[in-house]
Amino acid sequence: MAAKFFIPAVNVLGQGALDDAIGDICTLGFKHALLVTDQPLVDIGLVTQVTSKLQQQDIQATVFAGVQPNPTVANVNAGLALLTQHQCDFVISLGGGSPHDCAKGIALVATNGGSIKDYEGVDVSTKPQLPLVAINTTAGTASEMTRFCIITDESRHIKMAIVDKNTTPVLSVNDPELMLKKPAALTAATGMDALTHAIEAYVSIAANPITDACAIKAIELIAAHLESAVNDGNNIAAREQMAYAQFLAGMAFNNASLGYVHAMAHQLGGMYDLPHGVCNALLLPYVQAYNAQVAAPRLADVAKAMGVNTQGMSADMGAQGAITAIKALAKAVNIPASLTELGVNPEDIPTLAANALKDACGFTNPKQATHEEICQIFTHAL
Ligand SMILES: [Fe+2]
Repeated sequence: MAAKFFIPAVNVLGQGALDDAIGDICTLGFKHALLVTDQPLVDIGLVTQVTSKLQQQDIQATVFAGVQPNPTVANVNAGLALLTQHQCDFVISLGGGSPHDCAKGIALVATNGGSIKDYEGVDVSTKPQLPLVAINTTAGTASEMTRFCIITDESRHIKMAIVDKNTTPVLSVNDPELMLKKPAALTAATGMDALTHAIEAYVSIAANPITDACAIKAIELIAAHLESAVNDGNNIAAREQMAYAQFLAGMAFNNASLGYVHAMAHQLGGMYDLPHGVCNALLLPYVQAYNAQVAAPRLADVAKAMGVNTQGMSADMGAQGAITAIKALAKAVNIPASLTELGVNPEDIPTLAANALKDACGFTNPKQATHEEICQIFTHAL
């Protein structure tokens, strides 16, 4: 099967990336941005920092700071109303996955019409979205460079997976200076999300040599630098390596897609409004234990990339080594120990499992599961 590779046309990474990117935005020729962000970034002054840099280049910005941690259909509608009212000609997202996903929803509906609910699934839209510049502040969801857009439908209590080439931003920005001083728990959760992207892409049935290279390098970098970034939020070198790692993981899963960890984590997020990265971190070892039935050699590669000495090990032993290393890293960065600790009710598991099987992220998992098997995986993580 032929492979397609999706990535923004221009991607700026490393210290000083924001100033560099402002020059790139100027060359795009837009005049008035809808800047999609969340209130904490307004409160710490980051939004003003960006809008004043834009203003110096005669680019106006209308700020929409109403994005919730798990962005909703209502958030998309509110941003869209502001965009229409101010006749914005492009969108800038500033923040982590939530502002990027909400901005993609706004930009997609701005040109395609209807409701964001109309675009659930793979490549449902017909027109390019309004141009989107994504400035990232966490490492990360990689939403600043992917075609994945996850929006919570409040009425159905589910997260909709919108996988659409038209949601790819035109420009992504990863400046580690914008990632400094982020809380340790946020750094840990987003870092484990990136690790999940890399591992799910590596064992995906849609993996290819390009996504494999990206995934393995991402796993190596995360294993080497996540703890340092969590323990010292101002460690700019660790932040920069994590920015590269999450971008590489994004390149991998944007093209090889994901698996049951994300399909299942989306349901926990939709039902209990829990942090995405924490749900992934908790489910990751249990889904990989299930996947080891068919993907043990691949998981042995993951173990090696995480620093396990796999010499002389069988593939099954290597896979077990990966699962142990994942659990150890999650523990080292203080991820909660179980779904029970997060308040997950065992009675909800059959519903969570039924919805997980409908999530597009699960379609590329290396082994397709029954409803009962998904229930079992959830139960192991309790
Ligand atoms: Fe994710």
